[in-house]
This record gives sequence, structure tokens and C-alpha cells, in this order.
Amino acid sequence: MIGRDEVAMIRNLIHSPSMRPALLFIVAVALLWGGAPQAYPQQAEGKLPPPRDEYQGRSIAQTMSYHGAPWLIRETRDEEENPRKLIDALQVKRGQTVADVGCGNGFYSLQLAKLVGPEGRVLAVDIQPEMLELLKQRAADAGINNIEPILSTQADPNLPAGEVDLILLVDVYHEFAYPERMLQAMRASLAPDGRIALAEYRMEDPAVPIKLLHKMTKQQIRKEYNANGLKLVREYDGLPWQHLMFFGRAE
Ligand SMILES: C[S@@+](CC[C@H](N)C(=O)[O-])C[C@H]1O[C@@H](n2cnc3c(N)ncnc32)[C@H](O)[C@@H]1O
Repeated sequence: MIGRDEVAMIRNLIHSPSMRPALLFIVAVALLWGGAPQAYPQQAEGKLPPPRDEYQGRSIAQTMSYHGAPWLIRETRDEEENPRKLIDALQVKRGQTVADVGCGNGFYSLQLAKLVGPEGRVLAVDIQPEMLELLKQRAADAGINNIEPILSTQADPNLPAGEVDLILLVDVYHEFAYPERMLQAMRASLAPDGRIALAEYRMEDPAVPIKLLHKMTKQQIRKEYNANGLKLVREYDGLPWQHLMFFGRAE
């Protein structure tokens, strides 16, 4: 498991320009895909089956630890993933209720908060309290006060029923240990025309430099979402590394 000291050391090394490309790669591999499995809250009440490690023929990835949070706000993210394009494709409107499920330290939540404006709200959901603390600090530093952090469980995002206009899932769905429960709970939280926007690294593209366990094909995504009462309503194919697919209620 990588600890705070290691993260600090890596941060210092990153400041050396000649080391940066190689180190960023090593940091990504170590922080995202290394480490022992960790226990996360599953459900406050009631019994759940054990977390899945496979769903519909796909192996489920481990949760990214909060120790890896600096990677989510790395300098190179703009160039690698073009998040501006992703945000534009969401077509967020002022006053909306938007949920950022698996928000991490708030890379997207902070941007969404500006788009929905003071009359809207961002529900920032994560299973790791440490991630939510980082998000709160970043929001406070930016003077943003329309983000509501929500500590969720692995099986339930704890979102209000029927109220959410848009749920954003960036680089998290493939980590869900209870994918059907999460999909059904998110579906129930959608407003009548609400959408789930899913961004996952493209499995079909070998040039995307991400481990296979953290990538998905469009076909696999459709299979899993269709099996849980969700239908594809729109796609945006203009991102450098990721699929961006929009789902609504099938009926
Ligand atoms: C790879 S990070 C992505 C963070 C953020 N979406 C971004 O793009 O910067 C995945 C995050 O999802 C969270 N996560 C994993 N499973 C979750 C679940 N079932 N519900 C909510 N959050 C979850 C992890 O704790 C982690 O913070």
C-alpha cells in the first residue's frame, strides 16, 4: 500500500522536469492498480452478498485509494483526457441537480458547480470519507458553496429519489463492486428526463495507455446498462481516451 510519505516523495520527484513523463506513468500504475484490497462501507443496514469480482463476463477493478488523489488533479489530465470537451458534451444547464458519483477529490464536481450556478446543486458522492474531505477543502479554497458531499456505500449512492437531472460517472463504474445495485439505485434517483453520463477508458483502442481492467468496450457497457432498465440515448465520441455514453430509463 502506498502511504502519504511515498506520495510526498513522488510529488517532489515530479517537480523535476526530466523525470516527469516516466514518473507520471509509474505513479499512475502504482497508485491506481497496486495495493492490497481495502474494506469500504457496503451498506449501513441489512445484509449484502459479498462484493462481486465479476459481472456479466467482466472482471471488476479494485477501488482507487484516496492516496492516489493527486493523480486525479495531475497537470497532464487536460491534455490527456480533454475534460473541457467532456464537460461541454454534458450540456449542463443552470439550476439543475447534478450528481458526480465517485467524485474523488472533486475534479469534475467543482466544474459542475460553476455550471449549475447558485440556483443549482452538485451532489458529490463517494465511498471514501477522505476523498470527500479533499473535495470540501478544494471547494472552500475555490469559494464554491453549492456542492453537497454525500458519503455513500458500495451498493447505494444515497441519492434522493426522482430528483437528479444528470449523474456523471467518470472512471468509476468499472470499480463498482455491486454494479446492479448501483445502477438500479441511480436509475431510481433520476428525474423523469434524467440521464446517466458514463465515461470509461476505451477498451477497443490499444493506444489508450490504461490497464485493461480499467477499460470497457461499448458493447459491454450497453449489455450491463440494458440489463438494469437503462437505454442508450446519446453518445459523444470526441474524447481522446474515453467513451462518453448517455443512458436514460428504458421505460
Ligand atoms: C478513479 S477515481 C475517479 C474520481 C473522479 N470521478 C475523477 O474522474 O476525478 C474513482 C472514485 O470512485 C469512488 N468509488 C468507487 N466505488 C464507488 C461507489 N460504489 N460509489 C461511490 N464512489 C465509488 C472511489 O472511492 C474513488 O474516489
